[in-house]
Amino acid sequence: EKGGHEYFMLKEIEEQPEALANTLRGHFDGGRIILDEQRISDQDLRDVDKVFVVACGSAYHSGLVAKYAIEHWCRLPVEVELASEFRYRDPVLDRATLVVAVSQSGETADTLEAVRHAREQKARVLAVCNTNGAQIPRESDAVLYTHAGPEIGVASTKAFLAQIAANYLVGLALAQARGTKYPDEVAREFAELESMPAAVQKVLSTVDQVRDLGRRIADSKAVLFLGRHVGFPVALEGALKLKELAYMHAEGFAAGELKHGPIALIEEGLPVVVVMPSPKGRAVLHSKLVSNISEIQARGARTIVIAEEGDETVRPFADELIEIPAVPTLLQPLVSTVPLQVLAAEIARTRGYDVDKPRNLAKSVTVE
Ligand code: F6R
Repeated sequence: EKGGHEYFMLKEIEEQPEALANTLRGHFDGGRIILDEQRISDQDLRDVDKVFVVACGSAYHSGLVAKYAIEHWCRLPVEVELASEFRYRDPVLDRATLVVAVSQSGETADTLEAVRHAREQKARVLAVCNTNGAQIPRESDAVLYTHAGPEIGVASTKAFLAQIAANYLVGLALAQARGTKYPDEVAREFAELESMPAAVQKVLSTVDQVRDLGRRIADSKAVLFLGRHVGFPVALEGALKLKELAYMHAEGFAAGELKHGPIALIEEGLPVVVVMPSPKGRAVLHSKLVSNISEIQARGARTIVIAEEGDETVRPFADELIEIPAVPTLLQPLVSTVPLQVLAAEIARTRGYDVDKPRNLAKSVTVE
């Protein structure tokens, strides 16, 4: 049942192209983005003036990724909040606020309570959920289901990628409702999303290389992850995967923060994973990261660089280079996350841990 794999997580990592394709299917029809359930009017959607994404863990990271796209496409402020913090700090909510609650299980207690709090304050709630008929979608005004299929591994993989895709559909639905994107632009963005399953399939060709790397660095004390822009939440997700599976100290940073503290952690041989933006995207982001890598390499770090294929400038600074296909900047997390999932799983396996059932963790966290 693990499809010939040593652990479910690897099978689920390989199912990601399908999970993405299934999540996108049927959501663009007659030239329009469509949600699964919409119990709020188009006018209400048009009137939204602020978005909160509330979620926990990996789902929270999917929201951090989506913030870049939704703000860019919709010209709306987007705040991404840990569900466990959201309702205890009296967030400013009203009927023009859209709260997007992202949850694979649809039963996470903190996220559910955040939804209830938002609705009491008259905000509109849209659920992004992988489980049909779960409590969170039942209590929401609109729903977009991810179709990742059941996720057996406790650590989220295919559900996480599907959450990013679904959050992007929410962004496009809002852009369409608000008219901040013309219909042909929405169609073009959707077409880019539809090309992502093939790109993720391509990145899966790095699995053997990354597993081999994982075996070689499995006895490290800690691993750091750096990224900028959408690569920053990817770094956070890579670190979370490693903590939960390999029980290793791992931290993700915005690369621009290095000089403000984290660079003091760099010592001889410390593996540092760097998520590089496309050299063809925003050149300034790329060149800043190249200089960050050269700084940490000069201080002895072992640099593991996730970079777009053909990115030659980064090669001299990469002790290990993992190449990912060229995709639009905002969509890069859908490919750059994949090697980090494999890396965490393989380090955990090498250390002798149960990849599918990490200690102390439950698949669905129904207590606060
Ligand atoms: C990490 C992981 C968790 C979940 C979090 C939210 O790999 O799986 O961090 O993402 O517990 O769960 P859901 O999405 O069910 O609300």
